[in-house]
Amino acid sequence: MEKFDKHAIDEKVRGEMPFEHRWHNRFHLEMPFGLINDPNGLAYYNGEYHIFYQWNPLGCVHKNKCWAHVRTRDFVTYSMPELALWPTDVHDKDGCYSGCGLVENGQLRVLYTCNSKDEQGVRTAAQRFGTWMENGSVRKDAIIVPGNPEGFTAHFRDPNIFYHHGVRHFVLGAQRENETGTVLVYREEADGWKLLGELKTEYSDFGYMWECPGLLKFGSHDVLLFCPQGLEAQEYQYQNVYQSGYIAGHVSLDSMEMIHGKFQELDRGFDFYAPQVFQHEGRQILLGWMGMPDRDEDYPTAEKGWVFSLTMPRVLTLRQGHIFSRPARELQELRIQESAVDIEAQETDCVRANLAEGGEVLLNITLGKAQVIHMTLGYGMEKTVLHYDHKQQIMTIDRTGMNLGGKGKRSFKLYVDQTLSIQLFIDRTAIEAFFQNGEEAASFFVFPEKNILPDLVVTSDEAMEEVSGRVWELAAFRFR
Ligand code: FRU
Repeated sequence: MEKFDKHAIDEKVRGEMPFEHRWHNRFHLEMPFGLINDPNGLAYYNGEYHIFYQWNPLGCVHKNKCWAHVRTRDFVTYSMPELALWPTDVHDKDGCYSGCGLVENGQLRVLYTCNSKDEQGVRTAAQRFGTWMENGSVRKDAIIVPGNPEGFTAHFRDPNIFYHHGVRHFVLGAQRENETGTVLVYREEADGWKLLGELKTEYSDFGYMWECPGLLKFGSHDVLLFCPQGLEAQEYQYQNVYQSGYIAGHVSLDSMEMIHGKFQELDRGFDFYAPQVFQHEGRQILLGWMGMPDRDEDYPTAEKGWVFSLTMPRVLTLRQGHIFSRPARELQELRIQESAVDIEAQETDCVRANLAEGGEVLLNITLGKAQVIHMTLGYGMEKTVLHYDHKQQIMTIDRTGMNLGGKGKRSFKLYVDQTLSIQLFIDRTAIEAFFQNGEEAASFFVFPEKNILPDLVVTSDEAMEEVSGRVWELAAFRFR
């Protein structure tokens, strides 16, 4: 049998869905087996959103990188995941790495990195187009950049298209020969794709590699997304092994320079990396990988045969140089209206809500005298706590009370005047939290050891003036 037999792999996926294991999520994309990572090839084509993502269908390790594919009209009902792109030739035999999607002449195309290693283990990274075919697989087209240019290493990957004055360009993650990360820009010209050079930023020495770049437009502002590797952790930032963030400002392709503000993280949780953003009808829609490279010990599902998820779709907006992220409005369709329970309390130091197997919680806490708030997500004796210190203006996510999987704490600055606002999506293991109407977001997993539905208990040091909100049970994604 061939190593990657699309028909057999697709049948196996179909046979193992819907998911049964209680650690499988209900409204986060994931696979019944294998390892998934970066979202890839995001595009809107023929009335549907197309979502590809990195997938090793053969095991829970970072090898055999293929692309999986689903489509959806509404981010609620999805096509059955299929294998779409897999290693076949000398160029991509060691992995079909990340890339983007684009629509061209009525076709859905992708641009991805072909990874190959020779007998000595020397890596070559080439950038290649492909075309998604109605039979569900990607036809491989021309290689447009066969290898890394002089001055850069073979850590040269993750092309992401953007348009400038109607001309196609792409950004690409790269490593300089001095082992610092950067972004390169290519432009399409009459005789092929030409390297314009590095996009110069103030971050000339900021980690050893930048992965998964993206250049976005918010009105007249430019935002460069990228994932720097090798930053040192600080008290309130860069706390994961690798980061995902952005700089906002203005890009000049004439001088190949970006004038920008400081690097900010897109997500403050434990399990968020390699996001990709695409634009549709004025919305900038983000999907991220819920997971982290080189932290395999944090994810106990690997022993059960699958690992990692994608985030739910988020819509990004830029306000005063800062990206706000909100869950896409389509996700409101998941709310089971009959299940809605209102929370309403005054002058209290404790509020409690029981949660279903999958739930959404909206909470507005007018602090009043309260200065310290604990929002405890309890699974019997186990717990994860969101802790807010109003004096210090610090939010902390604390997983030290869980028995299995990654533990530790993540802390970040969160400015609250009088009302702390939180929106939580609590899936079986994947949790996404949005703070102050999207000013900050945090994605993280918890793997409750016992089969216990969670409850949420909000307590405070002094009475909270008012706590209001609503809790819903959420329906699961559907696959057809
Ligand atoms: C980011 C990344 C990309 C690469 C892909 C391979 O998580 O390392 O840079 O293209 O994963 O799976």
